[in-house]
Amino acid sequence: MSSAPLKLLLIAGSARHGALSVRLRDAARRVADGAGAATEVLDLRALGLPLYDGDLEVAQGVPAGATALRDAIAAHDALFIVTPEYNGFPTPLVINAFDWLSRLKDGTAVSAGKPVALLSSSPGMLGGLRAMNFLRQYLQMAFQMLVLPPQQAVGRANEAFAADGALADPKAAATLDGVVHAVLKEAALRR
Ligand SMILES: Cc1cc2nc3c(=O)[nH]c(=O)nc-3n(C[C@H](O)[C@H](O)[C@H](O)COP(=O)(O)O)c2cc1C
Repeated sequence: MSSAPLKLLLIAGSARHGALSVRLRDAARRVADGAGAATEVLDLRALGLPLYDGDLEVAQGVPAGATALRDAIAAHDALFIVTPEYNGFPTPLVINAFDWLSRLKDGTAVSAGKPVALLSSSPGMLGGLRAMNFLRQYLQMAFQMLVLPPQQAVGRANEAFAADGALADPKAAATLDGVVHAVLKEAALRR
């Protein structure tokens, strides 16, 4: 088995300044770094993907941002996606990016079998759990991704982080640790 660090790509479903999902993404990244992974974050907003439009696709082809997403997924052993919840659903930022990915000829070939761990965050009590469950179904069904059973919804996320960016509640921090280690373990088995 290779001893090179496992490559983990972390994605937040919001690019908003001060986004809770970005804070949770960064907390997960810290844990993964501590576990020896080589981590990278992907800013979905920076992909510059327009709202999916079939006429635009015919006129201009699939935008370069979709290719960048495909290449980033292909270059990593596993993914972490943190979604906020908009009306019970994952954000358009996530869904639109993956919808564009699916329009590339080999878009779903790179995602198939790729381990992915899911987290969600919200100031509400349920922590975006409903959105995360829809995202699980979407990624499994349309992208054949290997969505790990352990997941975590962080409720009251506006109060969940300590000054150093880690989850303040020891139980929540232990759960996050478990999710990170689960996805790294799965990725190690598959490379
Ligand atoms: C259009 C919209 C719909 C929302 N729907 C929900 C919801 O269904 N459940 C929930 O817990 N929070 C909901 N929220 C509140 C978000 O959880 C909150 O704005 C959160 O901070 C967004 O994630 P972010 O901080 O990562 O940007 C909604 C917010 C917006 C803008």
